[in-house]
Amino acid sequence: MIKFENVTKAYPDGTVAVDGLNLEAPTGKLTILVGPSGCGKTTSLRMINRLIEPTSGTIYLDDQPTSGMDAALLRRRIGYVIQHAGLFPHKTIVDNVATMPVLLGESRQKARIKALELIERVGLPASFAKRYPWQLSGGQQQRVGVARALASDPAFMLMDEPFSAVDPVVRGQLQDEFLRLQREIGKTIIMVTHDIDEALKLGDQVAVMRVGGKLAQMASPSELLTSPADEFVADFVGRDRGYRSLGFTKTAGAVAIGEEAVIQLGASADEARAKASGAWVLVVDGSRKPLGWAQPELVRGEVTREHLNLSGIPAVVSGTMRQLLDAALSSPSRRGVVVDENGELIGTVTATDVVKAIEAEPHLETAR
Ligand SMILES: Nc1ncnc2c1ncn2[C@@H]1O[C@H](COP(=O)(O)OP(=O)(O)OP(=O)(O)O)[C@@H](O)[C@H]1O
Ligand SMILES: [Mg+2]
Repeated sequence: MIKFENVTKAYPDGTVAVDGLNLEAPTGKLTILVGPSGCGKTTSLRMINRLIEPTSGTIYLDDQPTSGMDAALLRRRIGYVIQHAGLFPHKTIVDNVATMPVLLGESRQKARIKALELIERVGLPASFAKRYPWQLSGGQQQRVGVARALASDPAFMLMDEPFSAVDPVVRGQLQDEFLRLQREIGKTIIMVTHDIDEALKLGDQVAVMRVGGKLAQMASPSELLTSPADEFVADFVGRDRGYRSLGFTKTAGAVAIGEEAVIQLGASADEARAKASGAWVLVVDGSRKPLGWAQPELVRGEVTREHLNLSGIPAVVSGTMRQLLDAALSSPSRRGVVVDENGELIGTVTATDVVKAIEAEPHLETAR
């Protein structure tokens, strides 16, 4: 657990970067600090490992005030990922990751073996180990930064915009991988971002800060969407709140899934017409995995890949209302394809049925 008790930081020039911050980051959870540029996020983070000393107030690590600890020992317990990775340019990737364990007295050989494991764990090929940071893309360097912070297996991690330097697609992949990793390792993490979508996707809880270093609201992602504390938070969380909050509502059997007749590639135009409902028929492969929708009236001879419309996005049955609704809306037949965990077809849903289930769901009241 990391706890801020009434923590203030005024810089010598009088700037109050953090003002009376009270906040608790629970053990094993991912707490996100989010807020506009200059609101004191980095300052808050760096006060935890005492790269910056608070002007007043106390920060606790598992109920021990950090002010009484030896700063070097304190930093060994806390992994720190800084913005733009901050790798050592003259060291290879494997030695960048192995730095801390070697400093802590582990043999170079042992540390390198562990570093190699971590490099693969964050999704990089082991062949990158011998490269230098300048031979990696920005996103790959950020992965190395995460691996390096994990190398001494710290109980606590501080991450300052760790996924910022990459395009939205790679960013999404890094986030997914990181969520998977955190489910396994369960570290106590405080992560800084100024991207509210990243905060809502990753955070077990999210602290929204406003300029002047004050905490505006601390809540779960779904609570931020459904019950913002004031106009600043509502504004910062942004548009489409109602729709986005569906991303936190599990479908959990609430929506009736209809049976869908299917054909396989190679089916005749006649069969396609017989199985179609309305203008569209669903095409699956030999193991009932959906391939796309076809329009029988356009088929001469037999159904081929050229006939497939791929615009529909299948929803996994254990997913969220938002995914289910999106499956229906993105499907050319307006019937959203629902699959099981293995990607095999269960059936289809209509947007109307999803909306009915949403209206029956008292999630606005139960989000707290
Ligand atoms: N050494 C310093 N001396 C004076 N003011 C500082 C110093 N470092 C930071 N500040 C000020 O403190 C405030 C908070 O800075 P901080 O770096 O914590 O913001 P941030 O929330 O991390 O912003 P960003 O999202 O842009 O990284 C800013 O107004 C900044 O200008
Ligand atoms: Mg910052």
